[in-house]
Amino acid sequence: MRVLKNLFDQNREWAEKVKESDPDFFLKLSKQQSPEYLWIGCSDSRVPSNQIVGLLPGEIFVHRNIANVVVPSDLNCLSVIQYAVEVLKIKHIIVCGHYGCGGVKAAMDNDEHGLIDNWLHHIRDVYRTHSEEVDALQDNTLKINKMCELNVIEQVANVCNTTIVRSAWKAGQELSVHGWIYSIENGILQDLNVCVTGIEDVPENK
Ligand code: CO
Repeated sequence: MRVLKNLFDQNREWAEKVKESDPDFFLKLSKQQSPEYLWIGCSDSRVPSNQIVGLLPGEIFVHRNIANVVVPSDLNCLSVIQYAVEVLKIKHIIVCGHYGCGGVKAAMDNDEHGLIDNWLHHIRDVYRTHSEEVDALQDNTLKINKMCELNVIEQVANVCNTTIVRSAWKAGQELSVHGWIYSIENGILQDLNVCVTGIEDVPENK
């Protein structure tokens, strides 16, 4: 099938519904976007940023990749951060991981996954740094979930150490970086309490 008719049908229905509740919604949105948040999350289809935090189109700027990794050499992710911080002047960057992340699981097993292993390498680095703490856990699910949390914490540090975020803080821009984790099993978000609000609190990259 070349045309995914069901998706176009659903799109019309959705647009109608939005217009019913706010006739000017799309017109207003077409004139500007001024989101306060940048979401850096996993590509997993079960972790849709807008729905989880109940935000409408226009309210959250989003970058998603496998296992919500922020690599200092990833031009795609860095460009998103730069545009969000320097042009949109967002106030909060949220790195959100999730328990049971397939990317983290794949990084922890010894199988070969092809091209993606190059990407998962970044998560193996997180494991190497924290292997003692992770290996002390008996159960494999607990190990994976601990790694999902540690990965978020490491990626928060990576965001804080980008030249973009450091320069914003040096210039006095109001900007917080948060680390959250989401549970697919119950739909609940948890704050990992690693919020950084200025250059003096920046965690070191391990
Ligand atoms: Co994931």
